[in-house]
Amino acid sequence: MRILMIGSGYVGLVTASCFSEMGHNVTCLDIDKDKIEKLKQGIIPFFEPGLKEIVDRNVQSGRLHFTTSYAQGISESTVCFIAVPTPSREDGSCDLSYVHAAAKSIAEHMDGYRLIVNKSTVPVGTADEVSRTISAALSERGSAIAFDVVSNPEFLKEGSAVQDCMKPDRVILGTETPQALELMREIYSAFTLNHDRILTMDVRSAEMTKYAANAMLATRISFMNELAALCEKVGANINSVRVGIGSDARIGYQFLYAGIGYGGSCFPKDIQALRSTAQQVEVAMPILHAVETINKKQRRLFIEKILSHYASQGGVKNKTFAIWGLSFKPDTDDMRDAPSLSIIQALIADGARVRLYDPVAIPSARKQLPSTPLITYCNDEYEAAEKADGIILVTEWKQFRFVNFEKICSKLNQRVFFDGRNQYKAKEMHAKGFHYYGVGYCPKGQSLQTSLAAIQVNPMEKSLAH
Ligand SMILES: NC(=O)c1ccc[n+]([C@@H]2O[C@H](COP(=O)([O-])OP(=O)(O)OC[C@H]3O[C@@H](n4cnc5c(N)ncnc54)[C@H](O)[C@@H]3O)[C@@H](O)[C@H]2O)c1
Repeated sequence: MRILMIGSGYVGLVTASCFSEMGHNVTCLDIDKDKIEKLKQGIIPFFEPGLKEIVDRNVQSGRLHFTTSYAQGISESTVCFIAVPTPSREDGSCDLSYVHAAAKSIAEHMDGYRLIVNKSTVPVGTADEVSRTISAALSERGSAIAFDVVSNPEFLKEGSAVQDCMKPDRVILGTETPQALELMREIYSAFTLNHDRILTMDVRSAEMTKYAANAMLATRISFMNELAALCEKVGANINSVRVGIGSDARIGYQFLYAGIGYGGSCFPKDIQALRSTAQQVEVAMPILHAVETINKKQRRLFIEKILSHYASQGGVKNKTFAIWGLSFKPDTDDMRDAPSLSIIQALIADGARVRLYDPVAIPSARKQLPSTPLITYCNDEYEAAEKADGIILVTEWKQFRFVNFEKICSKLNQRVFFDGRNQYKAKEMHAKGFHYYGVGYCPKGQSLQTSLAAIQVNPMEKSLAH
């Protein structure tokens, strides 16, 4: 099958390379000339484990191509996937301008039947809107070419995107015509040889399924964070509670980690978009409201823990912090809505110095953070710890689990550790001489003196929270 992938980002490039790996002939199109130029030179524009190998292999085999030309891309393909951004607007609703721009470009260049597949995460009803955009652009050309629009939401996870794409848990196909369904089945047939993972449904249910999945996962995280706040007050340990409830097969262990709250390019915007859809049709969604509220508070609660620890030392002004991990989660360089940004902004707003280290995300972080002498980028976690008054673990990269604490301690000014991901055991950290703060754990006899309600939000932090 000849496929055009519109948008060559985390979703588009990974999906395109996996399609080509399965034998399809795929062209990746992007309006970002620099990105396409890099791809033509064999440079992958972002970090994703295993992606370079699969891209290189398929470029060499002649099945994977890159272009900025809609005319070329569309003339060579029967199926056009749309994998462009769908960010939040100011009011939380989903900005579909990139999707419509892509749809319009398809309509301007199509010369015969095309199957248009929406892979971007979009609100219910978008496929109908895309159909209207295409019909309008076609009628401007005085043309009435047939086309279908289907919904095929993506569930890959950054950090394991290639694996997720090659071995999907399920492939959701929202289609309205037998022709569209047949083409989609053909595209995915190689991915489902082992057993059929294709779930077919109507377009609107497919669009909703993607939001429902992310909303469910975010709900689990916020639920655990809410419990964690209670654990801290009553002397329970959220880690023990997590294991205790996860062992119940009806609950399972996934997405039960208390921490600094969810971030990244999907959950925050998708929860907002789903709430916005509900508001438009006047359906109350109190659970989702709570999920968002808890998530915002969770970040602030963590920052408050840091600030309150130094209150008796005159605050964090002129203090130095090592920040371990910047990306919103491990194994990616994606900094979109990463909790590290809020923490760093809050600390430098109060005059602290931060020494940042992340195995891959420093180039992305540089683009998002202000240029100030208060920020130093470091080559490893040891350099970051130099003369630090505290270490803040933000992203649970595996390498942080096995650091040489003797070496770390020799560099520190003060042994204080804020573990935003509960990577360490409090007892062990105390034995190393650290004043240790986890999430959802209150060492016996120690009152954290913080509560969700009591937190005064720093204005900088308030502007970063959504
Ligand atoms: N990143 C994820 O983990 C993930 C997972 C599942 C679903 N999604 C969804 O997939 C969609 C894409 O996300 P992403 O993370 O790949 O975004 P991204 O920002 O990494 O990539 C999008 C690409 O689209 C390009 N683009 C924008 N407008 C274009 C146009 N008119 N024509 C051609 N190219 C255009 C951009 O230049 C960019 O390279 C979003 O709707 C997102 O919610 C993302």
